[in-house]
Amino acid sequence: MNSYEGKAYHVVTYGCQMNVHESEKIRGILSTLGMLEIDDIEKADVVVFNTCCIREGAEDRAYNNIMALKKVKEADPNKIIVVCGCMPQQKQGKYNLKERLPFVDIIIGTHNINALAQYLLKFAINKTRIYDIIDRPIASMDTNECIRDDNINAYVNIIYGCNKFCTYCIVPYVRGREMSRQPQDIYNEVRDLVQNKGYKYITLLGQNVNSYGKDLKEPTTFSELLTYLCKIEGDFKIKFMTSHPMDFSDELIKVMKKEDKIAKALHLPVQSGSSRILEKMNRHYDIKHYMSIIKKVKRAMPNISLSTDIIVGFPGETEKDFNLTMKLLKKVKYDQVFAFMYSKRSGTPAAQFKDQIDEKEKNKRVNKLLRLQKLIQKDQIKKYFNKTYDCLIRHINGVAVGITDGGKEIYIPNYKYVNQNYFAKVKVEDIRNHKLSGEIK
Ligand code: SAH
Ligand code: SF4
Ligand code: F3S
Repeated sequence: MNSYEGKAYHVVTYGCQMNVHESEKIRGILSTLGMLEIDDIEKADVVVFNTCCIREGAEDRAYNNIMALKKVKEADPNKIIVVCGCMPQQKQGKYNLKERLPFVDIIIGTHNINALAQYLLKFAINKTRIYDIIDRPIASMDTNECIRDDNINAYVNIIYGCNKFCTYCIVPYVRGREMSRQPQDIYNEVRDLVQNKGYKYITLLGQNVNSYGKDLKEPTTFSELLTYLCKIEGDFKIKFMTSHPMDFSDELIKVMKKEDKIAKALHLPVQSGSSRILEKMNRHYDIKHYMSIIKKVKRAMPNISLSTDIIVGFPGETEKDFNLTMKLLKKVKYDQVFAFMYSKRSGTPAAQFKDQIDEKEKNKRVNKLLRLQKLIQKDQIKKYFNKTYDCLIRHINGVAVGITDGGKEIYIPNYKYVNQNYFAKVKVEDIRNHKLSGEIK
C-alpha cells in the first residue's frame, strides 16, 4: 500500500511516436502504483506533461497548457504536477522551466522517466519539489509494463537516441547517443504483443532505425533484425520509423520485398530537394543518392506507399533551392508529406547561421508546398485502380473496409462475413468521390 493507491492520473503527450510510446510506459508505471487513469485533467490527482521541443510551436503549446493548470493547482495544492520529456532536457531552452514553473512538483528529463515511481514516492514523503535532469539513462528504458493507447498497432522501441546531429535538430541533445536494444528482448516483446495480445501492426521505433545494432556487442543490422522478427508466427505486419536515407541499404530493400510480414510503406525523410541545403543540414546524402533509393524501392515494390518530412525555410534557402524541393515532390509523388517551417533551436549549429529566412517567407513557401502536395495526392488516387493490396480487414461504422499498409481505406460493399482484424488481399474496382471500393480476392 502506498499513498497513490486508488488515486487518479492523467497524462498529456506532445511530440513524436517515441513520446507517445513513452507516455504508454508512464501509464504503466502509474498503474503499478495502483493508480487509475481519468480523462478529466482537473480532477486528476497526478498530472504528467510529457513534452516535446522539436519546434518552437510544440514548446509554446506545452508551456501554455502547463500554465493553464496553475489556477487549478492553487485551488487544490495536493494535486501533483509532473513535467518530463524533451523540454526539460534542453540545456538552453526558450523557457527556464525550473524558474518559470514553480508550481510544478516534479521536473525530470528523458533519461530518468523509468524512475518516475521512485520520484513520486519520494515526493509523497518529503513534499519537497524535485528537479532532476541527468545526462545518461539511469535504468534500462524498456523494463516497464506499458498501457498502450491502441489495440491494433503497438509501438516497440528498437533504438534510443541519435548520433546524426543534423544542424537544425535538437533531438541528439535531448535524447543522447544511440543505444540499441538486444534483438532477443525485441523479439520477445513482439512475440508477446502478437501471440498473446492480438496486435496486428508492430511499429518499430527509433530516430534512425537504420543505425540499429551498430552499438551492440554482437553487431546486428536492421535488416537482420527484421528477418529475425519475421520468424514470429502469427497474422501481423511490421512497420518502422524513421529511416535515414544515409544508412538505407540495398539489403533492407531486399528484405522488405521478400518478407510478407513487412508492411509495404516507407517513411523516408528527405528534408530538402536541394543538395546544397542538405549539405548545410549535415544530412550526409545528396538528391542523387536519395532519388536512387526511391527508384530502387519503387522498382522492388511497385505498390509501396511513400511519405516524407520536409523543412521549409532552412537558413540560406533561396527561391531556387525551394523550387528544387517542389520539383522533388512532383517527381517522387509521395502519398503523404509532413512539411515544417524551420524553427530555430538554441544550442544547434543552424541557430547560429546568419542567413535566417523571414517567418512570412517561410509561411508563404510552406503553404505553396502543401498546395502542390494536395494536388499530387488528389491525382495519386488513380494509381490504385485495378491493383490488389494486402489489407487489414476492419469494420468501420458497420461497413467492411480494407486498410492498406499506407493507411488508405478501401470499402468492401459486398462483404458477407462477420470476421474482422485479419489480413486479406483486396482489389480496387471503383473510385468515386475520391473513395476507393473493391472486393476481397
Ligand atoms: N529522426 C527523424 C525525425 C525526427 S524529428 C529523422 O531523422 O527523420 C521529425 C521531423 O521534424 C524531422 O524529420 C524534420 O523534418 C522536423 N524537424 C526537426 N527539427 C526541426 C526544426 N528545427 N525546425 C523544423 N522542423 C524540424
Ligand atoms: Fe534529428 Fe537528424 Fe537525428 Fe533525425 S537524424 S533525430 S533529424 S538529428
Ligand atoms: Fe519532440 Fe523529443 Fe520526439 S523533441 S519529436 S518528443 S524526440
